[in-house]
Amino acid sequence: ESTLGAAAAQSGRYFGVAIAGNRLSDSTYATIAAREFNSVTAENEMKIDATQPQRGQFNFTAADRVYNWAVQNGKEVRGHTLAWHSQQPGWMQNLSGGALRQAMIDHINGVMAHYKGKIAQWDVVNEAFADGSSGARRDSNLQRTGNDWIEVAFRTARAADPSAKLCYNDYNVENWTWAKTQAMYNMVRDFKQRGVPIDCVGFQSHFNSGSPYNSNFRTTLQNFAALGVDVAVTELDIQGAPASTYANVVNDCLAVSRCLGVTVWGVRDSDSWRSEQTPLLFNNDGSKKPAYTAVLNAL
Ligand code: XIL
Repeated sequence: ESTLGAAAAQSGRYFGVAIAGNRLSDSTYATIAAREFNSVTAENEMKIDATQPQRGQFNFTAADRVYNWAVQNGKEVRGHTLAWHSQQPGWMQNLSGGALRQAMIDHINGVMAHYKGKIAQWDVVNEAFADGSSGARRDSNLQRTGNDWIEVAFRTARAADPSAKLCYNDYNVENWTWAKTQAMYNMVRDFKQRGVPIDCVGFQSHFNSGSPYNSNFRTTLQNFAALGVDVAVTELDIQGAPASTYANVVNDCLAVSRCLGVTVWGVRDSDSWRSEQTPLLFNNDGSKKPAYTAVLNAL
């Protein structure tokens, strides 16, 4: 196959990309994105601050721009993200307790209703665990509403759109030996045992010197899949973009039958949120990097 998406489709998977809506007018960017990928995640446009800037006033202008471009170009869409401590609008940052809990529920219902039946996977909850050795939840205004906020988010999401796969998504959870990974594993196991509706776990996979790729990532993916959830690599970028590491990540996903696909977090290095790390598959001029070829050959 000659593109990443077509190559991934041979095994029933996708190869996706994060799209920034304001870059779609850049023809080099749009040409690569349309050609190479068969899944799209909005890099920022479906987040809480973008979709509900004022309480009770939803705005899907930017989100729909990315969504419509994706569908018109034949791609499936991952929804990102409904409940998160970051990129909250000011009004939500100022809420707490029962009012915040209700606002979270209303937000999930409002966004999921707009896209009902149209989203392959939703990142319902993003980044709820703390880094480091504690294995604890991250402190946040959402966490302070009560430890059950995550399961309430998932139950709300299931009722709002039963057709979407519901994912929990986080970073620094790729290395099986890390406490954060174990904490997330225990939560997913508990949810499955108690019937909390969760379908998938997203591994962001922002690999760099402080959080490097480890070959036990495959074990992590296998162990989560064995709990009865799908897994996905949702925001892949790798400092320096070593071809061999990119190939390893792809091979880890391909080795796990419940791995749905891989999404890279941007098109060219210049599009990356960490552009100084040159972590992506395309150079700034749109040419393919060695990591691109390694990924295509691995798929
Ligand atoms: C990042 C975007 O790439 C940036 O443009 C934005 O300024 C901050 O958010 N984890 C996530 C993503 O789940 O939403 C983040 O995206 C990167 C880390």
